[in-house]
Amino acid sequence: MPASLSESAVVTRLRAAGCVFAEDEARLLVAEARTPDDLAAMVDRRAGGFPLEHVLGWAEFCGLRIAVDPGVFVPRRRTEFLVRQAVALAARTPAEPTVVLDLCCGSGALGVALAAALGPVELHAADVDPAAVRCARRNVAAAGTVYEGDLYDPLPATLRGRVDVLAANVPYVPAEEVALLPAEARVHEARVALDGGDDGLDVLRRVAAGAPRWLAPGGHLLVETSERQAPHAVAAFAGAGLVPRVVVSAELYAIVVVGILPPS
Ligand SMILES: C[S@@+](CC[C@H](N)C(=O)[O-])C[C@H]1O[C@@H](n2cnc3c(N)ncnc32)[C@H](O)[C@@H]1O
Repeated sequence: MPASLSESAVVTRLRAAGCVFAEDEARLLVAEARTPDDLAAMVDRRAGGFPLEHVLGWAEFCGLRIAVDPGVFVPRRRTEFLVRQAVALAARTPAEPTVVLDLCCGSGALGVALAAALGPVELHAADVDPAAVRCARRNVAAAGTVYEGDLYDPLPATLRGRVDVLAANVPYVPAEEVALLPAEARVHEARVALDGGDDGLDVLRRVAAGAPRWLAPGGHLLVETSERQAPHAVAAFAGAGLVPRVVVSAELYAIVVVGILPPS
């Protein structure tokens, strides 16, 4: 067995590869590696440009460790803002347990975080990418059900009209801008996780259009979007019959459109 790389050697290697937070990353890699060979391979992958979370096999999200498999979207810190908004809304929902749908779930991070914050929930999650679905099933485990398919298509009909919180962090990068993303996203995350079509709003519009059929009266749809896209997202929500508002976190540089299905 080769001698293990020291933490300072890992820092030097990561710094040379351009990792800005080399010290923090080295600490995580050294803690995660099971053997010296394992550590050397992990450092090679990280220095070769793989996202830290794919090398570690997990990401921290809302204080939880979420497994993230190769190719699967790494949950972003900014999306914690959407979760916080959803938690605040669910706390006001009389339904018990709260019915949560995490659409475009990727690793399942949003649903898992909502379940952790809200206590017992009825959790459903879905994604079109089989790798994401496998990953989400590991994270969600017995806490809910993960379906594979296009948006609402794979969901059971029994869920119609019952969803209190519909959290959907959809892909929202305009197609032409995918090429401008950092390599960690562009190369190592699936294109379907990033590309939102011509103006980045294709999936969001479809989610908004379908939401009234699945939301309970008084239920909420929450999506993350960009500043430029927010007015168009608001129009899509309103066009679908939801009453929209925009909430912003300057701290996390996050914009979330929240729409309520008015109680009839
Ligand atoms: C931006 S990622 C977000 C993943 C996760 N919600 C998160 O925040 O970490 C978007 C996800 O949407 C999924 N997706 C894209 N188009 C979809 C569709 N038509 N139906 C279901 N899922 C879709 C992708 O596979 C990807 O996992």
